Amino acid sequence: MSNKKPIGVFDSGLGGLTVVKAVLENLPYENIIYLGDSLNVPYGDKTSGQITEFAFNNTKFLIEKGVKAIAIACNTADATSRRELLQCFDLPVIGVISPASEKAARLTKNKKVGVIATATAVKSGAYERAVRSFVADCEVFSNPAPALVPLIEAGKIHKEDSETAQALRMYISPLIQKGIDTLILGCTHYPLVLDIVKELFPDINIVCSGTSSLGALYDKLKAENMLNTSGKKGEVQYYVTGEPADFGRLGGIFLGESIEGKVRRAVI
Ligand code: DGL
Repeated sequence: MSNKKPIGVFDSGLGGLTVVKAVLENLPYENIIYLGDSLNVPYGDKTSGQITEFAFNNTKFLIEKGVKAIAIACNTADATSRRELLQCFDLPVIGVISPASEKAARLTKNKKVGVIATATAVKSGAYERAVRSFVADCEVFSNPAPALVPLIEAGKIHKEDSETAQALRMYISPLIQKGIDTLILGCTHYPLVLDIVKELFPDINIVCSGTSSLGALYDKLKAENMLNTSGKKGEVQYYVTGEPADFGRLGGIFLGESIEGKVRRAVI
């Protein structure tokens, strides 16, 4: 009955587009309303209380637009606020941390998993708990990577952007030295620089938190009888709380299709 309603997806900025892309590629009939809270980016250096307030405002905005479920396309908001959102809103709320942890726990052979994420997400300990809920004796080494989100939001996502490559080397090398065989990109922004990560560290498994959540989203929608089976290609509406033009330009590069002129400003 409600299956044609859109899925609401939110992040602090561009990162959640990694979830949008995965939905477009794998659940093509789903409609999406995307909200990038770019006025408040980065979330990763804010307190849990501030992020929970942003997450509530984002969710309320999306619910007012008529969504059937919420995909928190942000590790930092998932770590700090998912439980509260589930308690306060009566619709499915899917996060990114548990699905990515499950995938990493499945992939690691030596039970040593590395995580790079925002400072707040690392501080929450959410990834350690989630990975160990799947493999109790897995060692989890986490490193905050505060320079990455500002670099990515500034469009420094290309192989020739030496500042970005240098930051990735600085954050990931200590984890490699700990002997990890699997690395979780524990921030949905980081897959925008996946090519650089792969080139620098070709010998480890890499788990992207955004795309890993797709299976959980599918399972939940199916269980709730909410999958859109219309057979009609879904549409995406893009909203940002900050400057629409910047988001449109960079988002289009990542999505591989122009969304310039299609991004609206959300007043929250
Ligand atoms: N992309 C978000 C995450 O997955 C937030 C990054 C930020 O705004 O600091 O954590």
